[in-house]
Amino acid sequence: MPTSLMINGERRTSNRDPMTPLIDVLRDEFLLTGAKSVCREGVCGACTVHLDGRLAVSCLVPIGTVEGKDVRTVESLAMAGELSPLQQVMEQHDVVQCGMCFPGILMTLTSFFQAQPNAGRDEIKAALVGNICRCTGYERLVDAAVTLTKRS
Ligand code: FES
Ligand code: FES
Repeated sequence: MPTSLMINGERRTSNRDPMTPLIDVLRDEFLLTGAKSVCREGVCGACTVHLDGRLAVSCLVPIGTVEGKDVRTVESLAMAGELSPLQQVMEQHDVVQCGMCFPGILMTLTSFFQAQPNAGRDEIKAALVGNICRCTGYERLVDAAVTLTKRS
């Protein structure tokens, strides 16, 4: 049975098996390859998206469970070709290494800053506990993120 949902503001319909992970539908069917499929066990955070405004690891979300829901992927962050403020500071601080973790980190921090725009360094670090960076670039990443907050 088809699943109809909103993805980055557009209504989309998937005919994939309802148990297919959302990450596979995003990447293979809708060619939204920003979210990365890495551990596929809900551990690394590379596949993180926003699902009805909340963080979700899309490798653990069967497409059949998101009928009528609103999904936002990392592709939604740059509006009209302009990077979001978060993306801009990450670029300015030359944070990205291999990039596998980064779409998930951007989605986590975007959600976090919406809720806590005045967060400090320790709170930013805590927010990233579910996002693993194998290149271990955490310090530079937090240095960049903290410049966005009113406490910086
Ligand atoms: S691929 Fe989903 S949490 Fe790692
Ligand atoms: S930049 Fe390589 S895994 Fe994070």
